[in-house]
Amino acid sequence: MGGAPGHLAPREMTIRIAVIGAGIMGTDHARIIAEDLPGATLQVVCDISEEQSRSLADECGAVDSETDANAVIEREDVDAVLIASTDDTHADLAIASISAGKPVLCEKPLASTARDCLQVVTLESRLEQPLLQLGFMRRFDKSYHEMRQTLEEGVMGRPLMMHNFHRNVVSPGSWFTSDMAITNSASHEFDIARYVLGCEYTSISVSTPRRSDDQAAPVMMVLETSDGQLVNIEVNNNAAYGYDVRSELVCEKGSVHLISESAARYDLDFQSTERYPADWRPRFAEAYRLQNKAWINAINTGQPSKIAANSWDGYCAAIAAEAGVRSLTEGTRVAVEMEEEPAFYRLLKEAA
Ligand SMILES: NC(=O)c1ccc[n+]([C@@H]2O[C@H](COP(=O)([O-])OP(=O)(O)OC[C@H]3O[C@@H](n4cnc5c(N)ncnc54)[C@H](O)[C@@H]3O)[C@@H](O)[C@H]2O)c1
Repeated sequence: MGGAPGHLAPREMTIRIAVIGAGIMGTDHARIIAEDLPGATLQVVCDISEEQSRSLADECGAVDSETDANAVIEREDVDAVLIASTDDTHADLAIASISAGKPVLCEKPLASTARDCLQVVTLESRLEQPLLQLGFMRRFDKSYHEMRQTLEEGVMGRPLMMHNFHRNVVSPGSWFTSDMAITNSASHEFDIARYVLGCEYTSISVSTPRRSDDQAAPVMMVLETSDGQLVNIEVNNNAAYGYDVRSELVCEKGSVHLISESAARYDLDFQSTERYPADWRPRFAEAYRLQNKAWINAINTGQPSKIAANSWDGYCAAIAAEAGVRSLTEGTRVAVEMEEEPAFYRLLKEAA
């Protein structure tokens, strides 16, 4: 990050954050900032819906509420920007924040297209230090963290395959398509598998089974990596039974898989059960909290988090998703063809 922002309020020495987007994720982030983020203040809540921005600002004790995101980014009393508005707004708002010299935590995806991701990448790579942290919060999840650490320790041997399952109860609406399962939902898996394995994707094959109704069918993806591994990703947005994320990393000497701890077990009617959450928020609550803390720490120290995703990671997820959509449409295996990684991001990785 570009060091402590010059706008920091001198007496409070707190980072004054504007949250843009007061929907599901914006609400979560605003609550984390208000309740659990030492060194940060919720300064402004912004949503195109005046009612939503005011209501969230009131609930979380923000200083102000607004409807114009670009005006908010320019405000003197805003030091840093958290973008939690809809996908189509991310690239423009990220570019506005970076242009204003303000650190930004942008919800995934970085942009709706790989081309738009590259615009952010190009702008940011002209700076001395990155200003954008991307909200691939699974990197802060304890289970995935252990998976990556185990690989670094080398006890499992060479990694061969990573199996991933991403299941939601029901898709957000009839407009949600299998393409969106690839471009929106699967972006978490594209990022986390690439992060755990530490390599790039070279190809992707996507197919889909037939459902008995008109809801978006699951998508099954198989990716090959530059180091000769296979990554399977199942995304099922209409799984019905609960929110369920699974992952298993298969190596030559053993395998490691995620454990989703539930808080309680229920014994009833001759059965012992654990409950699934209705959505992703309880499952990844701690990861969001740690991610936001890492962001504040990066702003304070001027050192980007070694764990968090950056703009280039956002581009890598987007380019895999675009190849995935083509594979689904054309029914063939498609090469993932990436631009060359700018030295700016390569050096950051080497320094980590
Ligand atoms: N990291 C994760 O696990 C995770 C999970 C869910 C969603 N997301 C991402 O978070 C973002 C928000 O998702 P959500 O589920 O909260 O959506 P949502 O629809 O509940 O909320 C989005 C809000 O953004 C507002 N908005 C749209 N354009 C705006 C603009 N120009 N300025 C200000 N406000 C604007 C909308 O009015 C809406 O209130 C999406 O990009 C989504 O992909 C991330």
